[in-house]
Amino acid sequence: MAAHPSPAPHHVAIVMDGNGRWATKRLLPRIAGHKQGVDSLTRCVRACLQRGIGVLTVFAFSSENWNRPPEEVSGLMELLVVALAKEVPRLSAQGIRIHFIGDRQRFSDKVRTALVVAEQGTSANQRLILNVCFNYGGRWDIAQAAQKLASRGEPITELSLDRAMALAHVPDPDLLIRTGGELRISNFLLWQAAYSELHFSAKLWPEFDEAALDEAISVFHARERRFGQTSAQVGGHSSSHDKKAV
Ligand code: IPE
Ligand code: IPE
Ligand code: MG
Repeated sequence: MAAHPSPAPHHVAIVMDGNGRWATKRLLPRIAGHKQGVDSLTRCVRACLQRGIGVLTVFAFSSENWNRPPEEVSGLMELLVVALAKEVPRLSAQGIRIHFIGDRQRFSDKVRTALVVAEQGTSANQRLILNVCFNYGGRWDIAQAAQKLASRGEPITELSLDRAMALAHVPDPDLLIRTGGELRISNFLLWQAAYSELHFSAKLWPEFDEAALDEAISVFHARERRFGQTSAQVGGHSSSHDKKAV
């Protein structure tokens, strides 16, 4: 376990990207990369627990990933069911509570049942919340929240929308990591990442290990979160640039 002088970020969100490239580099089918990605996730969850992180939100399948070749999509659905059967008892024994975030309408009954079983089987756990975004898109989340309010005849405000979002049970992410080297959000947490610190890692997701997580946490600690205020207001040192400003 790495020692950090400052407390760990409470909520870490990760775009787990690069499974396909990891496999292709090894002349393996892309699904082999996704399988390796599951192992990387279970390792990452353990590392988050050890570091005192309270919430981990991961992007596992986007609204747009349905546009991939059908065999990759069906392989991912199958992998989800198999991985849950294998990993949920272990995750539960470690005190992890699982939530699935996303639109479930398009899933088969088998997938839908597996999600409910995983959520119900871990619902009493309190050490770490694991949000798995599966058939999730930030735009979907904003739209479904607005629809919910409209159907109840409630006014649409920042607060009411926030409470109707799929991640209303957790605070916004402090640190958002994307692996795989791409510098984009790809429709992840568009609302909730308004003030998250962003960290882009060149490592492909199956290679994202404890050291890479620690690096992301160290970078996070070196940042000054100002939330629109000045450096002096949040207790930092005012820069010469600030002094010169008129
Ligand atoms: C992320 O890895 C996992 C999913 C989107 C399901 P990718 O499959 O996007 O991997 P690359 O980006 O092709 O390497
Ligand atoms: C984002 O990765 C979604 C997940 C990691 C689940 P993608 O690989 O789908 O993103 P793009 O297509 O490169 O933007
Ligand atoms: Mg990708």
